[in-house]
Amino acid sequence: MSRFQHHIFICTNRRASDDSRGSCAGRDSEKVLIAFKQGLVKHKLSGKVRSNSSGCLDNCSRGPSVVIYPDGVWYGAVKPEDVEEIIVEHLLNDRPVERLRIAAFSAQS
Ligand code: FES
Repeated sequence: MSRFQHHIFICTNRRASDDSRGSCAGRDSEKVLIAFKQGLVKHKLSGKVRSNSSGCLDNCSRGPSVVIYPDGVWYGAVKPEDVEEIIVEHLLNDRPVERLRIAAFSAQS
């Protein structure tokens, strides 16, 4: 049995500004990570849901990239203002946010 009901990985990989692949940190993913951490506290999900920064999730062109396990649901182009909706809809009501969802893995970085 897993310690956490959900585990959220937020890519905070940063590349040089002249790298054509771009990076999630270059698109403010660190603010997305902070929004998740604050949102989990706000909704009293600390200890039930864990959010972590991660390295590159290989969806760079669609970042900031977020993946939630054990569901295996991937989100792309996530902004800090999207995080409340993900927490309420996905984590609390078991309804993934379709408008932000991306295919599981396409390796198009
Ligand atoms: S830099 Fe975030 S998915 Fe690659």
